[in-house]
Amino acid sequence: MVKTGGLGDVSAALPAALATLGIDARILLPGYRQVLALLPDYREVARIAPMADFPASRLLRGRMASGVPLYALDCPELYQRPGGPYQDEAGSDWSDNALRFGLLSRVAALLGSAGGPLDWQAQVVHCNDWQTGLAPAYLRYAAGARAATLQTIHNLAFQGIFEPELVAALGLPPASFSPNGVEYYGKLSFLKAGLQFADAITTVSPGYALEIQSEALGFGLQGLLAARKDSLYGILNGIDTGLWNPATDSLIACRYAADTLASKPINKRALQRRLGLAPSPAVPLFAVVSRLTAQKGLDWLLEIAPQLLALPAQLALLGGGGDAHLERGFLALAQGHAEQVSTTIGFDEGLAHLIEAGADAFLMPSRFEPCGMNQMYSQRYGTPPIVRATGGLADTVVDCTAATLADGSASGFVFQQPTAAALLVAVERAERAWRDGTTWPALQRNGMARDFGWEASARRYAAIYARLAEKQ
Ligand code: ADP
Ligand code: GLC
Repeated sequence: MVKTGGLGDVSAALPAALATLGIDARILLPGYRQVLALLPDYREVARIAPMADFPASRLLRGRMASGVPLYALDCPELYQRPGGPYQDEAGSDWSDNALRFGLLSRVAALLGSAGGPLDWQAQVVHCNDWQTGLAPAYLRYAAGARAATLQTIHNLAFQGIFEPELVAALGLPPASFSPNGVEYYGKLSFLKAGLQFADAITTVSPGYALEIQSEALGFGLQGLLAARKDSLYGILNGIDTGLWNPATDSLIACRYAADTLASKPINKRALQRRLGLAPSPAVPLFAVVSRLTAQKGLDWLLEIAPQLLALPAQLALLGGGGDAHLERGFLALAQGHAEQVSTTIGFDEGLAHLIEAGADAFLMPSRFEPCGMNQMYSQRYGTPPIVRATGGLADTVVDCTAATLADGSASGFVFQQPTAAALLVAVERAERAWRDGTTWPALQRNGMARDFGWEASARRYAAIYARLAEKQ
C-alpha cells in the first residue's frame, strides 16, 4: 500500500469502520503503481476530459481488502513514476505536485457535483490534508447541487503552498485568489483553501484541535482556525484492531495476549537476534518507529543516548523519510555501540510489528503530534510508551504515578517540557519501573485493556456527515 505515516493507516481503517455503520463510504486515491497493483480486477468507470492544465484521466474502480470501494484516479503521467507519493527518489518534492494534487482535488469535487462522472454523487466529500484541500474550493464555485465538505487536518506542518500563477493552471476562478479564498501571504495554499471553504473541519485529536488555534502550533493558520472554532472538531483516530493485535499478528515471532504476557519476551529475543543486539533479557529495550523529522523530537533522544545506554539499556530505531542529520546521528550511534543500538533506515512494516511486540518501551518524544498511532499500537502490545505531553499523545497515554497506578489507568510515561533533559527524566522513570516487578506488568495490562478501536470515532464522523448532508 502507499503509506508514509499515519494518514495511510487512517485512510484504510476509517472508511471500513464507517461501512460497518451503514455509510456508503468510497475512497479516491491517486493511481500510483502500488494502488493499481491492489486492483487486479479493476474496471474503468469514467473518463475525465482535460481541464485547465490537467491532462485527461480516468477512474478505475476496485475494492480495498476491507471491501470498501476504491476509485483509483489513473493518470500515468502524473502518478506512475519511481519515488514516493510526494517526493522523488532523492527526497525533493515533485515539481508538479500542484497539478498532481490539484487533479485529485478536482476529481473529488466532481464526485460531489451534479452531473459528475459516475452515476453516483457523494453527499459529503471528506478531504484529508492539503493534498485534497482544493476540493472544497472547487465545490464552492461549482454550479448546481453540491456535496457538503469536511476538511480533516492530519498535520498542519504540511500545507501545499505554491506560486500564485498556478491559480489559472488549476482552473480556479481569479476571484478565488483573495485573503478570504485560497491566498496565503501572496501564495496559493491548498490547506488554507480547504480550511476556508470546507463546511466543517476536523483534526485527529481533541488536544490538537485546541493547540492549532494558538500561535505556537498553528503554523500561521491559528487565526483562521480560531475564527472557525465552532466548526472545528477534534476526533481521536482509532486503530485497526485487526491489523494491530498481538494475539493474531502473523508478523511477530510469538503471539500473546494480556493473560499470556510471559510469551512476550520471545519476541524480544527474536528482535534482538534480528537486529544483532546482545541477546540479553536483563536490559530494557527501548524502541522507535518513526519518520525521521524534526516533529518527532528524536534529536533529544540522540542527545541523551549516552545516559540511556549507561542505564544500561538497548535502543532499536526504525526510521525513514528523512532528515539526513538524524539519519547520520542514529547510524553513527549504532556503529559505535553495535550490541546496544540498532538503526534501520527504511520503511518496513514487518519490522514495525516485531518492534511493537519485542521492545520493552516505546519512545515518542514529539515536539508536536496531531494524533500519533504508534503510542496506541504499543499500549495494545504491552509495550508502554514514553511520550511528550502534546496533541494526541497527551490524549491517549496516562502517566504513571502513584494515583494512576492505584486507579488502574497508568499506561506509560508522559513528560511536559520540550527538552532533552525532560525526556531523560522520563526514560529514567521508565527504567526504574521496568525493573520493578509489579509496576511494569500493571502498566502493560492497563494499556492492553484500553479500547483504541475506531467505533466511537467513526460514529462521531458519521454524526458530522449527517449534519452536513442535512444542511445541503
Ligand atoms: P506520522 O503520521 O506523523 O508519521 P503516526 O504515529 O500517526 O505518525 O503514524 C506513523 C505510522 O507509520 C505508524 O503506523 C508507523 O508504524 C508507521 N511507520 C513510520 N515509520 C515507519 C517505518 N520506517 N517503517 C514502517 N512503518 C513506519
Ligand atoms: C499525521 C500526524 C500524526 C497522525 C497521522 C494520522 O501524519 O503527524 O500525528 O497520527 O497524521 O492522522
